[in-house]
Formats: sequence, structure tokens, C-alpha cells
Amino acid sequence: MNNPIRVFISRGIPTIGIDLLKKEGYQVELWAEDRPMTAGELMKAVKSTDILLSLGENKLDSDFLRENKHLKMISQFAVGYDNINIPEATRLGIPVGNTPDVLSEATADIAFGLMIAVSRKFFFNHKMIIEGGWGSFKPMAFLGQQLSGRTLGIYGLGAIGMVMAQRCRGAYNMNIIYCNRSSNEIAEQKFNAVRVSFEELLAQSDVLSVHSVLSEETRGKFNASAFAQMKSSSIFINTARGGIHNETDLLEALRNKTIWGAGLDVTNPEPMLKDNPLLSMENVAILPHIGSATVEARDGMSRLAAENIISYFKTGIIPHCVNPGALQ
Ligand code: DGY
Repeated sequence: MNNPIRVFISRGIPTIGIDLLKKEGYQVELWAEDRPMTAGELMKAVKSTDILLSLGENKLDSDFLRENKHLKMISQFAVGYDNINIPEATRLGIPVGNTPDVLSEATADIAFGLMIAVSRKFFFNHKMIIEGGWGSFKPMAFLGQQLSGRTLGIYGLGAIGMVMAQRCRGAYNMNIIYCNRSSNEIAEQKFNAVRVSFEELLAQSDVLSVHSVLSEETRGKFNASAFAQMKSSSIFINTARGGIHNETDLLEALRNKTIWGAGLDVTNPEPMLKDNPLLSMENVAILPHIGSATVEARDGMSRLAAENIISYFKTGIIPHCVNPGALQ
């Protein structure tokens, strides 16, 4: 290429995608520090690039996009893209790619693991040992819940929810119900999954696992009113986005025993502060947003983020494009 296309990557990512881009002749620049870029640093860096390969931590709001309408494309290193003002990107003709599927196994494992960790109070008991509290055998202490044959409710049955359903069906023969905008025939055939209303999902789930996107429709969806409709024995799991639950309401629901337990890989805000009362509750397990943190998933995300760019400039098609309207 005479004038190589410039790609700016806003954080160190696995080299597989960077190597692919370089091999295709792209000029790749990388934010080399081990911390997120500030808004000012990102704004400055993006001025002299054609493509931004962004992370979820970069807030690409309408001001940012209007200031950078020269961008030919944004390639997001994540399946979620709630950090980007998509309608504005579409209006400005900036296509946005994302990285679905490659992280479904990894993220579902975290949801599945949190479900077990909460049901048997793993994290609370682990902390108790560290604090020197392992005493005598107590027949009536630390009692958890069995998962076999229980009902798993999935809010947002996409690729990650499908893997979670498969795990829960295979390991515990759980009944699967789900709440989605459209029906999922494969889940209905494979797992006997039953599509229900939001109210039915709340009322019937023993474990309610959130796998939806964060949008205006889902923001704060799991609030005091939702928790009040759940079973007092139920476990709430969120590995999608912290903004989908109201954390103050969740804390209250756990304190009042409105619901039994909660497992979160995503919190609101992130990072969670170390003195957050949720961290010391017996039936709660919290992880620091590590859903996609496996070597395989992160390599896959890096590869897909690069392939989205390469394909777009070769063929005009972005294999995983969240705003096809921008291409018209
Ligand atoms: C995603 O891909 O959206 C995950 O949350 C990782 O950031």
C-alpha cells in the first residue's frame, strides 16, 4: 500500500489480530501503557488514524464521534458496544464491528461458575478460612441449595445464554425458560426451553441469569419491583452488563431476603469499591468482569476485530457489523 491505512488500538490486545493487520499492510499504532486512555488522550490519538480498534472502556459518545467523523470504521474488541453511541455512528456513516461468539463459552462458564459458587457460598467460605474462621463442623451452618432439576430463567437468550442453557441442562437437568424479544426455536428443540413473559420469568426462575445487551430497554430492568416478583429462594446472576440491574435495589433485596443470592461478573459502577457491602454477604459471589478472560476467547476477539477491518477494506462487508445502516 502506498498510503497504508492507519489503525489505532486503544489498549494492548493479543498479538494475533495485530499480526494479521500488519501482514495485510496496515499501519498499526498501539496505546502502550497498562491503563485505560483518558478521553483527552484518545481524542488526540484518534485524530491521525483511519480506524479505531476500541475497547469497552472507551466512551465513544456523540461528541467524540462528531469530533472524529473522519473515522472510516470502529472495530470494537468486545461483543458489547454500549460504550458507543450507535445511532450517531450510523448517522455519521461510521460502521462499527464487534466480536460475538468467540467469547460465548468463556462467559457462560463464568455464569455457570457463579451459579454454583453462590448456591454453595464458595466465596464467603473462602474468605472465612483466610480470616482464620474455620472452626468445628457445624451441622446447621453454611447450608446451600441443590441445583438439580431447578428452573433456569434466561433473560436474553443469545449465543452466551445458549451455552449457559446447555451447561445447566447437561449438568443439572434444569428446566429452561427464557424471555426474549423473539423466540429461539433451536433452544426450544434442543433444551425444551419455553419462552415466557418477563413477569413469568421473574416468578418461575430458581436461577435467573442475565445475558442481554445493555440498552435503553434493559437499563435498570432488574430493580426493586423485579426482585419483589422473584422467589425468595432464587439466585440472580449477571454476567452481561452492570447497568441492567439496580445495585442499590439488589443489595436491599438480598438484605431483606427478597431473593436468596446473587452472582455478578459485572457491577454498577465498575470497578466495585472494596468496601461494597455485597462483597461480605454470605450468598453473594462477585468477579471483576472476567467473562471473556480466557486465552482462547481473547485471541478470538483479537482475530475477529482484525478480520472485521480487513474484510471491510477488501470487500465492503464487515462480518460482524452492529450498524449495517452505516454502510448504505
Ligand atoms: C464483551 O465482550 O462485551 C465483554 O464484556 C468483554 O468486555
